Amino acid sequence: MVKNDEIFPSFWYNIIPDLPKPLPPPRDPPDAEFSRIDLLRTIMPKEVLRQQFTVERYIKIPEELRDRYLTIGRPTPLMRAKRLEEYLKTPAKIYFKFEGATPTGSHKINTALAQAYFSHEEGIEHVVTETGAGQWGTAVALAATMFNMKSTIFMVKVSYEQKPMRKAIMQLYGADVFPSPSDVTEIGKKILTENPNHPGSLGIAMSEAIRYALDHGYKYLVGSVLDVVILHQSVIGLEAMKQLELLGEEPDVLIGCVGGGSNFGGFAFPFIGHKKGKRFIAVGSEEVPKFSRGEYKYDYPDSAGLLPLIKMITLGKDYVPPPIYSGGLRYHGAAPTLSLLIKEGIIEWREYTEKEIYYAAKLFMQTQGIVPAPESSHAIKAVIDEAIRARNQNEKEVIVFNLSGHGLLDLTNYESMMKRWG
Ligand SMILES: Cc1ncc(COP(=O)(O)O)c(C=O)c1O
Repeated sequence: MVKNDEIFPSFWYNIIPDLPKPLPPPRDPPDAEFSRIDLLRTIMPKEVLRQQFTVERYIKIPEELRDRYLTIGRPTPLMRAKRLEEYLKTPAKIYFKFEGATPTGSHKINTALAQAYFSHEEGIEHVVTETGAGQWGTAVALAATMFNMKSTIFMVKVSYEQKPMRKAIMQLYGADVFPSPSDVTEIGKKILTENPNHPGSLGIAMSEAIRYALDHGYKYLVGSVLDVVILHQSVIGLEAMKQLELLGEEPDVLIGCVGGGSNFGGFAFPFIGHKKGKRFIAVGSEEVPKFSRGEYKYDYPDSAGLLPLIKMITLGKDYVPPPIYSGGLRYHGAAPTLSLLIKEGIIEWREYTEKEIYYAAKLFMQTQGIVPAPESSHAIKAVIDEAIRARNQNEKEVIVFNLSGHGLLDLTNYESMMKRWG
């Protein structure tokens, strides 16, 4: 029996030195009234910032942090979707990495834990972030508490009202959760004066979180898109590589869903860098069509325009996504590394409608029993399409995908979809 400690990596993997072209660096807007790069220096924990700009291929995971990863149940299981294979009558084998098995129910804890650890090491006692649907906020709330820190989470007001269970989990972990716009920052107060019923947005929540961190000398934690987040998420792919090796399997097709790109990058980049796997498929939402309609250009990673410009595939920071149920896929861009690899033809992409992913999710639930997060169901739809292609071509391929989270707190969303589509 192989011990968890032997599957969990000692180093994170960074794809930057293995990219086919140098990554265009983050930069300040030319006529900016303040430097976004300096702002990043002030609000991010120092080591996290260093890792954001490192070109080293492997970064050691500190022992204490490694222990914490093991405590929360890493490595997560790599499971075979045998009943789905049988249902589809495909000769392909389907495996999935189940990030829903973490206590917070998604991959987001992998970077929250690392960023909280480095904050704690610097003597920080309080961390701040924003959250939309709630997955990221939940991860930060747990990570902070695991390193004896306080956390403050600005939660977009509509989600705060519509997702009381997410709010409750964060509070049970010990976080202070404010609906954004809030009355604890000047930004929030000003918006509330103009419109007391403002529903909030991710951009406003982020501005409030950054302002709150600056005003109190706290650190701000970042949930996706930046290279350092994907670096921390590489534990997913590194574990999966080891788990496949133990099973004697060589992966052919690797699939993951994309919001900002952190679970996809964390899962797929170690395989790309170690030359394992033949095809890589990034899956987005057709309702937020960044891959089919986005441009590859410098843009702000945040809709508030407070962070440095990065070069990525983007619909523009002012793009207003429709209110789809997969809240985590409503992001306007895709991480710079992922964007570059798509542009270079190394990663393929797909986009699916909410209706399509709903049927894929239902089939997965009925064959495998797991309720996937609606975000992850995008990956499942691509897996089903690939498994059918393998059947039609009679190919005995190995398809591996990242199931980025469970959907047990998204049941009201699934219920609405069930009412619409049966
Ligand atoms: C379960 C789940 N999957 C995927 C995503 C998309 O984010 P990313 O592309 O950074 O992995 C989110 C974002 O909230 C999420 O909660």
